[in-house]
Amino acid sequence: MSRVVIRPFETADLPAASRLLAERHARHRLKHPLLPAEYEDPKLALIEVTAAWESEGASGSVLVDGDEVTGYLLGAPKSSPLWGPNIWVEQAGQAVRVPEYMRDLYGAAATKWVADGRTAQYVLVPDDAELVDAWFRLGFGSQHAHAIRPVPAEPLAARPNLTVRRAGRGDIPVLAELDLVLPRHQALSPVFSAGELPTLEEALADWEESIDDREYATFVAEYNGQVIGSSIGCSIEKSSAHGGLAQPDNAGFLAYAAVLPESRGLGAGRALGEAVLNWAVEVGYTSVVTDWRVTNLLSSRAWPRLGFVQTFHRLHRLIGY
Ligand SMILES: CC(C)(COP(=O)(O)OP(=O)(O)OC[C@H]1O[C@@H](n2cnc3c(N)ncnc32)[C@H](O)[C@@H]1OP(=O)(O)O)[C@@H](O)C(=O)NCCC(=O)NCCS
Repeated sequence: MSRVVIRPFETADLPAASRLLAERHARHRLKHPLLPAEYEDPKLALIEVTAAWESEGASGSVLVDGDEVTGYLLGAPKSSPLWGPNIWVEQAGQAVRVPEYMRDLYGAAATKWVADGRTAQYVLVPDDAELVDAWFRLGFGSQHAHAIRPVPAEPLAARPNLTVRRAGRGDIPVLAELDLVLPRHQALSPVFSAGELPTLEEALADWEESIDDREYATFVAEYNGQVIGSSIGCSIEKSSAHGGLAQPDNAGFLAYAAVLPESRGLGAGRALGEAVLNWAVEVGYTSVVTDWRVTNLLSSRAWPRLGFVQTFHRLHRLIGY
């Protein structure tokens, strides 16, 4: 690596970074063609890298090989206390021709991040085995999956013994109860999520306000006449976690699903996920996106079974111990 120089990212690096990002995205789309095509164009990739660079508190590094920039890394903090003293590398925050050099880019950028106290680190990595491996050898581990699947060609058939229907005002009490199921589950081992637990009163008030919102399709599953689970579909544009290169065109979003603990394993999770897939077909979406904590033993098994394929890996490193 004699001719290679690593130095801080500067505004003048934006055009070169956008070309690298466009290249990375074109490679990523060979594997996941449902990701948005437009960011293969460096002019559009430039908008994304510029946004990453202009995020408050952004900093990073570039790799210069001879007189050509062949890699970059950009991170910025999020203000939410939920993530600790954090730094985030988002979907447009990195690209490198030789994945091994990501370790050098991180080595340079992380000097400032850690000096600034940014020790809780999050990186959204495209599904590229060599790049993921380079991050693993920087002490990062897998935290969260982003995934996609095409809508089904034919509506998926209903399951015997289970009725799935649109939720109505009369379902508000059970919908509120089901809203607590995911955060309660994820507070436990082995997820140990720091996410906030809403109270039942807050969940009830939320549903009173939102049950008629036509931008969200809410389904409930009944077994022996009792509601045992719920799911919600909406446009991907409603999700702040799937922006830019991670936001497929014309996609629906499986935003939520939960089944009461005593009723799991009956097929209700599948039926509720399929209800969102069928709804996406009716709306005219091409694909459906979802995401999950990889340490959630339930969703990380259920959603791949429904045909979701991982597109991005959110990796995490906590420095200090
Ligand atoms: C995730 C959840 C909604 C799934 O609901 P469920 O009713 O338990 O799931 P199902 O019985 O329909 O099973 C779904 C699929 O996962 C598979 N699955 C479930 N547990 C599994 C395990 N331990 N190993 C392998 N596959 C498993 C099932 O076999 C099924 O696939 P199949 O239909 O092809 O056989 C439910 O477990 C839940 O509420 N979990 C807590 C909250 C949560 O994680 N919500 C998801 C938010 S991202």
